[in-house]
Amino acid sequence: MTPSDPVDAEAFRKFEHAGWEAVAHRYHHHFARLTAQTAGPLLEAVGVGDGVRVLDVATGPGYAAAAASLRGADAVGVDFSAAQVALARSQYPTLEFHQGDAEALPFPDESFDAVVSNFGMLHFARPERMLAEAHRVLRRGGRVAFTVWAKPEDAKGFGIVLGAVETHGNMDVPLPPGPPFFRFSDGEECRRVLTGAGFVAPEITQVAQVWTLPAPEALFDAVYEAGVRVRAILRAQAPEALDAIRGAIRDGAKAFERDGVTEIPMPAVLASAAKP
Ligand SMILES: C[S@@+](CC[C@H](N)C(=O)[O-])C[C@H]1O[C@@H](n2cnc3c(N)ncnc32)[C@H](O)[C@@H]1O
Repeated sequence: MTPSDPVDAEAFRKFEHAGWEAVAHRYHHHFARLTAQTAGPLLEAVGVGDGVRVLDVATGPGYAAAAASLRGADAVGVDFSAAQVALARSQYPTLEFHQGDAEALPFPDESFDAVVSNFGMLHFARPERMLAEAHRVLRRGGRVAFTVWAKPEDAKGFGIVLGAVETHGNMDVPLPPGPPFFRFSDGEECRRVLTGAGFVAPEITQVAQVWTLPAPEALFDAVYEAGVRVRAILRAQAPEALDAIRGAIRDGAKAFERDGVTEIPMPAVLASAAKP
């Protein structure tokens, strides 16, 4: 166990797993147009192109794997949720998807040129183990890259939601403790874990993304229906508190409404490095 491991990593892993099994289709409905935006920069950070063998860890509905395949790569996706893997296979029937854990990848040593994870790192109970596994399955000279959300001050959707819970509800609800949600929004922490896993020359950048929503109310619907930790926090609120939170989230999102379209800045942090 490393100092940053949660107290009971297995309890947190089970909580995440059950959450993703429950929300896979709603995640695809609410988040596809947002998280797919970083697929291009993520793949560029690892040099994905013709013939490159790339593994997309925590592939979810398969967005990064599909984008890699469009660039001519030999793309494989892996996710621990059977529901997500089934969804990915139905979306992209010609691609290869496996059910497996990021912390114990079901692939041989040195079998990939590149490993990516789009918004996976913040969900792993032991993210250092995922990086150790990425290092193991990469060939020498291969590259790893991951994205996470920027801090809530910049990723305004999370700022609105968490601010609403802090003001009208209770953040202190009984959830299995996990690594801090915004741990890797800090570039120094990304550098530290990447070099700690044996990677060199880490590069950290911020990637602009915009969450285009049909209405301000859609922000609450997305996090209430389709996340895991934030969804669990919202579902643990008292009914009156939840009503107040819903209203505050709608009002917060309204500030980003122009001409009937709600566009919320949701930048990502992109970290990449090489296996020497
Ligand atoms: C926020 S979604 C990201 C999905 C997709 N990569 C995207 O770009 O939208 C997080 C994904 O991580 C997967 N996941 C979480 N912990 C995992 C683990 N330990 N091993 C494999 N997949 C995991 C979940 O099942 C879920 O599909």
